[in-house]
Amino acid sequence: MNSLRIGVVGYGYWGSKHVRVLGGLPGVEVVVIDAVPARLAEARRVHGPVSCVGSLEQCLDDLDAVVVAAPPAAHADLALTALDAGRGVLVEKPMATSVADAVAMVDLARTRNVCLMAGHTFEYNPAVWKLKEIIDSGELGRILYIDTARLDLGRYQADCNVVWDLAPHDISIVSYLLDEMPAETEVWARRHVGQRHADVAYLRMEFARRQVNAYVHVSWLDPCKVRRVTVVGERKMAVYNDLSDNERVRVYDIGVSALEPDAAHAMPVSYRTGDIVSPYIRFSEPLLVQDSHFVECLRTGATPATPGERGLDVVRVLAATDHATADRHAATVRSLGTAS
Ligand SMILES: NC(=O)c1ccc[n+]([C@@H]2O[C@H](COP(=O)([O-])OP(=O)(O)OC[C@H]3O[C@@H](n4cnc5c(N)ncnc54)[C@H](O)[C@@H]3O)[C@@H](O)[C@H]2O)c1
Repeated sequence: MNSLRIGVVGYGYWGSKHVRVLGGLPGVEVVVIDAVPARLAEARRVHGPVSCVGSLEQCLDDLDAVVVAAPPAAHADLALTALDAGRGVLVEKPMATSVADAVAMVDLARTRNVCLMAGHTFEYNPAVWKLKEIIDSGELGRILYIDTARLDLGRYQADCNVVWDLAPHDISIVSYLLDEMPAETEVWARRHVGQRHADVAYLRMEFARRQVNAYVHVSWLDPCKVRRVTVVGERKMAVYNDLSDNERVRVYDIGVSALEPDAAHAMPVSYRTGDIVSPYIRFSEPLLVQDSHFVECLRTGATPATPGERGLDVVRVLAATDHATADRHAATVRSLGTAS
């Protein structure tokens, strides 16, 4: 097994988790890169004699690959620098803050023939795999709609709004579950605190081939932490609750059927209730699964399950929401997402 030196740019909330996970993989040496000396001091305190550097440029010659875990606005510059030097790159979500930047990253990775991987962590989450398996098995029947909620109080971001910060997860999860990108995206987003970015948003994404709508609610301003995906099928319904310890996915054998409108006072629908079943899901830390896959792709030359093109697809949907939020009223815009 060839040893790899991987630089993690950004030792913040999420980058510190990459450093922990990568540092535990066999044959991987981690270099911590952060522009703020106090963050490097913290990395030394936690990890002991780990290599720490103030900028990517200072150590790029000595690296085999780079993980970009700096704030979103810095992703493109850092990734393009590393790709240009022929280094494989894993970029956190959202892969870039504009379609033009994401296209430039995908193009450069192709030209240099190096690995570009999007850090869509939920696509490496065994509970999401189980949910997809349940949908694909037909157990739920025809999918009527999907609803997601990603709410919490805090982690306001300086360089992007709540849609760019949190909705990449839901766009990635739902498009993965349905095997297609939305043809159309509608958004309602508002700022309630501060002067900068929208902190509460609702998206509607239309998936044309499956004729399914997905409704996404993201918020930095909610008293309750919620991480939930609900899939409503004609026969059954499934709920994935990422905060549950041992019942992450539950399948509800319940449903509603429309009745013929013949009797004047009859109910318009009938209800069916049944068992609630929670399948066993072996826990693996999604970030560990994702980063192990990145290392494997670097070693074997395999294409990642979430290549740069998939990161670009998600950025296209996010960019479409910008056109809508620029307007004071909710607007419908074509997301121009391409199936990956
Ligand atoms: N996949 C997930 O579930 C997940 C979860 C949280 C955050 N993220 C993503 O991870 C990234 C980082 O988020 P965070 O919450 O850790 O941010 P953070 O603000 O906590 O940390 C960012 C760090 O990057 C450093 N930095 C900024 N620009 C730099 C540069 N040019 N060179 C070197 N260091 C630089 C900062 O000093 C800071 O320490 C974001 O893209 C975010 O969307 C992903």
